[in-house]
Amino acid sequence: MITFVDASAQSRRKPGVIPLHGEEGFAGMRKAGALTAQALDILTEYVEPGVPTSTLDKVAYEFARDNGAIPATLFYRGYRHSLCTSINHVVCHGIPDERPLREGDIVNIDLTLVVDGWHGDSSRMYPVGEISRKAERLIEVTYDSLEAALQVAKPGNTTGDIGAAIQTLAEGERMSVVRDFVGHGLGKLFHDEPNILHFGTAGTGIPLKPGMIFTIEPMINLGKPHVKILSDGWTAVTRDRTLSAQCEHSIGITETGCEIFTLSPGGLFNPMKSRAAA
Ligand code: MF3
Ligand code: CO
Ligand code: CO
Repeated sequence: MITFVDASAQSRRKPGVIPLHGEEGFAGMRKAGALTAQALDILTEYVEPGVPTSTLDKVAYEFARDNGAIPATLFYRGYRHSLCTSINHVVCHGIPDERPLREGDIVNIDLTLVVDGWHGDSSRMYPVGEISRKAERLIEVTYDSLEAALQVAKPGNTTGDIGAAIQTLAEGERMSVVRDFVGHGLGKLFHDEPNILHFGTAGTGIPLKPGMIFTIEPMINLGKPHVKILSDGWTAVTRDRTLSAQCEHSIGITETGCEIFTLSPGGLFNPMKSRAAA
């Protein structure tokens, strides 16, 4: 059985209970999401051959500090950085370091800024210089899969409709969906109910209700879906070492559809679209 609860009414939540947020939550998420998106926009100009990902981490840290925000990942479960940088065959949770980015790399930057206690969680792909045609296709399909998911993120549908939309799109292009990481509810908590699987069967799962706030963050691989975690305990890579891409929005379900909290103010969310326009 699925139960829902007014998010503002309960501070300690039982597992399996899905919080429904009101105007206060949506207002908080709008602010946090906008600041996260602004930071991801600013990072665009730093992603270049020769730049180490530690520079991106520093830029995000200073941006957060200067704007009254806290990076949610800093000291989260022992993680010590302001963002994740996942390059090429890294699926997610790549740790920023001193190694320089190289022409042709594709990097996902995943950032969560906390503003007034609300978490804005988003990630995007950043091509480093010229990238291969197959990397471009992977990024296009990954963004198309998120777009397909957003189309069905509305009352009357279920979490399974979201997963099915992503899986159908990606597998239709002979790519695969990573199973080991999921989208998640968020708000005053970084990770909350419900889990949002990026694969599944239409019509199954949890019915979407106005007030639900969660991320959709598909990870799509050119090869097989399987991942392994490196010995640092964080970095997830494709087992077959094929390229992986991801993009993520934080959204809220409304009466008629969804509100995207992490839209790029500069129209830079999809690098394939913003590059074509430039
Ligand atoms: N931002 C990631 C997400 O989308 C979580 C990163 S946790 C970290 O849920 F510790 F790896 F940074
Ligand atoms: Co994220
Ligand atoms: Co997330």
